[in-house]
Amino acid sequence: MSADGFKSIVQSLRLPVIQAPMAGGPCTVAFVASVLKEGIIGSFGFAYSKPDAIRDAIKAARRVAHGPVNANFFIFPSLQAPSDAALQQAVQALQALAAFDLAPEDRPAHLQMLERSAIKAAEAPFFPSLEEQLEAVWSARPELLSFHFGLPPGWVFDRARELHIPVLISASKRSEALAIEASGASAIVAQGIEAGGHRGYFDAASSMSIEDGMETLDLVEEVSKHCKLPVVAAGGIMDGEAIRAAIQRGACAVQMGTAFLACDESGASAEHKRLLTQEPQRGTVFTRAFSGRFARGIRNRFTESMQDQQVLPFPQQNTLTGALRQRSAETGDPEYQSLWAGRAYPQCRAEPVKTLLARLEKSYRMPGG
Ligand SMILES: Cc1cc2nc3c(=O)[nH]c(=O)nc-3n(C[C@H](O)[C@H](O)[C@H](O)COP(=O)(O)O)c2cc1C
Repeated sequence: MSADGFKSIVQSLRLPVIQAPMAGGPCTVAFVASVLKEGIIGSFGFAYSKPDAIRDAIKAARRVAHGPVNANFFIFPSLQAPSDAALQQAVQALQALAAFDLAPEDRPAHLQMLERSAIKAAEAPFFPSLEEQLEAVWSARPELLSFHFGLPPGWVFDRARELHIPVLISASKRSEALAIEASGASAIVAQGIEAGGHRGYFDAASSMSIEDGMETLDLVEEVSKHCKLPVVAAGGIMDGEAIRAAIQRGACAVQMGTAFLACDESGASAEHKRLLTQEPQRGTVFTRAFSGRFARGIRNRFTESMQDQQVLPFPQQNTLTGALRQRSAETGDPEYQSLWAGRAYPQCRAEPVKTLLARLEKSYRMPGG
């Protein structure tokens, strides 16, 4: 589907807003359905989901709400199994964490958990098959399809075009936006440095360079100047005035993640929501230590202790830290969970999605209101 198809979906919305796809918990069916009911685009973060779960989630959201659904996926890099030495170093870095400083009787269970995660992290397949995931998409037919971390293969564009599904792709810099424009995509999601969660840069092995560090509105202006495709602004947008500012700088819509995270319906953990709304002083940091790729989240003991530690490539590191993150969530401890959040998270409120949308609409339509 063409850029015009995407623009006409945006024109049908109550506000030019996409609720950002957020893999790993926040985007439950109840959450996405509550977003759709408010007349904007609701996204699922399906990066790690199995085909049946993808099909079921889209169908379940449709049963309770109308409106455009966006199905989002990652473009995972091709990977070899890690060497024994790399795996051992990554495991040792985790063993040294205070989370493993337990009463002597609890320590063996923790170490066994890490051993099991290490076996999983080193075993192919390292990530879900995009082809199998997209089979679910072609049958459930969401209104939009989006990708993070690079360009999907050509057959994805062909099939999406046949089914009239616009394809959106994240860019963190101008060169990536130009590659997206040349690929046959329908729109570019310009993700600024303020954004929460993983940076969408294409080269998985790249470190964060200065060029990668543009703020959202500057990136939107730069991309709009050099590309004809519609641009969606992502990063640090928390209120209606910021939506207007993004549109003024060249965006046709915005993608907001953090602003939705603390909403009542969001599937983020209770501790994640508590820190978002009650601990503004923590601030955010970029870390590769949870997943192997740079992502922005709230500072905690894990991000602090793991600075400069050896980690596995993405997503092997994500698998390696999986059980530790899960246990941290189960015990209500925020210190070892990935608390993805954008730089503007102190503006988060604990409120229903409906209230957030009413507030966004008011400040979007009435400057200063
Ligand atoms: C908790 C969380 C998870 C995210 N997961 C994804 C994802 O699965 N796919 C994706 O394309 N973007 C993901 N992002 C990035 C968002 O799409 C978007 O770029 C970002 O939320 C915009 O910045 P903001 O958080 O300041 O609104 C995630 C962001 C957050 C906060």
